[in-house]
Amino acid sequence: MEYTVNIISSDKRKAVRCQAGDNLQKLIKSNGFWIYTPCGGKGKCGKCRVTLAGKGSVTSCLYNVNEDITVILPDKREMSILSGQYESSIDVPLSPGDDSLLVPDPLGFAIDIGTTTVVSHLTDLTDGSVIATWSHLNPQSVHGADVISRINYCMDKPEALQEMQTMIIQSLNEVISKAALMPGIDSDRITKFSIAGNPTMLHLLAAVDPKSIALAPFKPAFTACRIIPAADLNLNCNKKANIHLLPSVSGYVGADIVAGIASVDDTELNSYLYIDIGTNGEIALVTSDKIWACATAAGPAFEGANISCGSGAFAGAISRYSRAGVGTIADQKPVSICGSGLVDIISYMVQESVITPNGNLTQPYIVSGSKSNGIDSDIVITQQDVREVQLAKGAVAAGISILLKRSGYSFDSIDKLFLAGGFGNYLDIDNAMRIGLLPVEMSGKIIQIGNAAGTGALLALKSQKHADNLKRVVDKTDYIELSYEEDFALEFAMNMSFHE
Ligand code: FES
Repeated sequence: MEYTVNIISSDKRKAVRCQAGDNLQKLIKSNGFWIYTPCGGKGKCGKCRVTLAGKGSVTSCLYNVNEDITVILPDKREMSILSGQYESSIDVPLSPGDDSLLVPDPLGFAIDIGTTTVVSHLTDLTDGSVIATWSHLNPQSVHGADVISRINYCMDKPEALQEMQTMIIQSLNEVISKAALMPGIDSDRITKFSIAGNPTMLHLLAAVDPKSIALAPFKPAFTACRIIPAADLNLNCNKKANIHLLPSVSGYVGADIVAGIASVDDTELNSYLYIDIGTNGEIALVTSDKIWACATAAGPAFEGANISCGSGAFAGAISRYSRAGVGTIADQKPVSICGSGLVDIISYMVQESVITPNGNLTQPYIVSGSKSNGIDSDIVITQQDVREVQLAKGAVAAGISILLKRSGYSFDSIDKLFLAGGFGNYLDIDNAMRIGLLPVEMSGKIIQIGNAAGTGALLALKSQKHADNLKRVVDKTDYIELSYEEDFALEFAMNMSFHE
């Protein structure tokens, strides 16, 4: 039996014929395409991911072709993040624990439940290889873009907590259904889940009231790791499977940050900054004996909230902007502006003095006129949009300043800055430094590591021994509540302006 494989990279495309069962990675390479394969195609690193149109991403060296498919290769930016991730992550010995003994050929899911996006890695627990990865929107978003809106929703309606839990479980069951469509995958083989996420997401998954996270002193109902029988949550998997919720530090420094930090290979580092700008912005200064961490309300602007033409990273969203023109996701006509595009546009406006150092704008700036758009109106940046960016970037910069003050460290003594999270993936680092979102002092030391929380969940899935690393991160973290810090307001105000 023969199949057609359409291979698409950023600069070429080719349709090739192959035999049933041919290995996808070999097919890609033998047809002149380049793909990042740090473990040499042994299925160990999970970095040779490619996207199958309409299906999700698969590990190309583990995938054998058994139907007509369209393969989209990562572009240069994604490749560089995959390589940043690979080179910056620790490795752990394979020891998935008792859950993996339930069946002879066990599978597990490592999941990062983000406020906006949920990423799930299907993993073979017999050898630790990542078989496929899916990403989907968190369906709870309909009840608010940020954690506070969702907590408020739960506080307003007695049945809301159950509703939120059902929403996330249903979406995870849809991922399991997609996995079960793959050849040889049976949901009964799924015996272990390892889940990272911010504390609110973990509370909602476990249907534990998250109210205390929103009220001073912002203490979550639980921070320690939790094991929940998957059957209690109606997940469609092996009846005896367990869900392992990873540990958090506080209400706003959650298992996603703990898992991300614990995944970083710091053997050659004395200290580093770890920043995850997602819907919330978490910042940690990590040293060998102590971690200082804080959280800021930085992210919503970069995910489109409160920006007049803002959106998430959807097809048609402007994701690149420079003198050369506009770039959109999936090369479609512009319909909106996503976070990375917003940073580029504001940086351009600063450079061209369209906005003053104080952020003043005389009239709305037309980014893309209605004639070239996929919508009937102009796509613009308004004065209010600039203010939202100033608030967001001021909060991140102020958070970093407070951590430096509390720790006594200076930028000179910090070896690296690891930028984690979905938004960090697509951010143009130079533009982010120009607008003051990232410290210019760390120029040349910034590494984008993508979904580090997902990497951390994967390490915990593969190895029980990684629990010690997670515990170490929790034990040495000092959470700094910025709203209690005297200097925060001053630092915030000082970091609101733009300096060209
Ligand atoms: S090359 Fe490492 S998993 Fe495929």
